[in-house]
Amino acid sequence: MLLRRIVMTLLLLTLSLHAAEVPETLFLSWEGNPCRTMTAQWLRGPGFGDRPDAKKPEEVRWRKAGGGEWQVLTTKTQPFPDPGKKGLPRWMVIKANWEDLEPGAEYVFRFGDSAEMKFRTAPEKLVEGVTFVEGGDCDVTKRAEEMISLGCRQDPLFFSVGGDLAYGDWMSVAKEIAFLQQWSRSARTSAGRLVPLVAGIGNHEVMVGYVQDGATFEQMKAQAPFFYTLFGGLYRTAEPVALDFGDYLSMLLLDSGHLIPIKEQTGWLEKNLNLRKVVPWVFVSWHVMAFPSARSWNSQKEIVDVRREWVPVLERSQVAAVFNHHDHNLQRVETEGKFGRKIQFFGNGAIGVEARPVQCQESKRLAKAWAEENYVNVISIRRDGTTVRSLAPDGRELDRVDLETSRAR
Ligand SMILES: [Fe+2]
Repeated sequence: MLLRRIVMTLLLLTLSLHAAEVPETLFLSWEGNPCRTMTAQWLRGPGFGDRPDAKKPEEVRWRKAGGGEWQVLTTKTQPFPDPGKKGLPRWMVIKANWEDLEPGAEYVFRFGDSAEMKFRTAPEKLVEGVTFVEGGDCDVTKRAEEMISLGCRQDPLFFSVGGDLAYGDWMSVAKEIAFLQQWSRSARTSAGRLVPLVAGIGNHEVMVGYVQDGATFEQMKAQAPFFYTLFGGLYRTAEPVALDFGDYLSMLLLDSGHLIPIKEQTGWLEKNLNLRKVVPWVFVSWHVMAFPSARSWNSQKEIVDVRREWVPVLERSQVAAVFNHHDHNLQRVETEGKFGRKIQFFGNGAIGVEARPVQCQESKRLAKAWAEENYVNVISIRRDGTTVRSLAPDGRELDRVDLETSRAR
């Protein structure tokens, strides 16, 4: 009898402890207005706590930082893809969507009696300045974890990863889970605030890497099961995505031919740059670089297409700068300005992958900075200008550029 009571007590204690833990795969992203919304996601299933009952979804308690009544948010659940496993997926993704939040405000949330997690919404106006960090080609490596930490120690509003996140391709659920664990451990500011992930798509998110002739968007989405399960709330249609931060910053996220053909996005890019003429800081990001650093200019169809299709449109616009990735080292290029302005292209994606030699002779004549190094870009936006610093793993500044306000462009 006594033994049974002890076993029951231990069992209950284990269950209550589990309910009180912060999920190991917890991460933040946006599916709507960054000033008013926030999305948190985490996995349940083997190793990560019981899958919630369909009739009794998991709940999160939350409130504004510094006080106020605790409120309860009900979550949504969907299967996490498990392509290698026949039968039922083993894990579920739990998603908490906050709406109607206050801009520029800090909130806390918890799981049962867990430690409090913090997030911040984007401010609606640029008063004190805003910082975000940016890179691409992450993978699950010791270096990737160091670089995500380094980026998040700059106290950024968000971290943009321009494609090739987990390198799970379309099939490795273990790699995807390891990526989420890595992100969850390292995407925190020094004060413990969670940093939202703004994800772009790269070839390693897609089964065959690139859009297939004649394939529909729905067919291509099925080839990027992890990306669409985690980020499909932002990428809802067969178009690029614009994330607008109040009236001061926009991120235009293009797809360099992975699920959407490159040429089909040129009109969208032109239109959306035009719509944002009055926004002082518009950045454009995509995965396959226009100006390679580890290979030649014509070595890949997508490289040629993004350069021919999008560089002229960008040179004719008021865009602040472009972020490219895919070639695994640091290279900043200033375009020739044949179609209008000279534009800074920050590339080429090396958060956690092994850095490649910088050896593209065609890009060298336009390059302003280069290094065979891992890097993250830290973009500090002020009312009177923006500074982009490229940091090496030890925090050294590999490159630094001041961008002019749109009035001066
Ligand atoms: Fe890539």
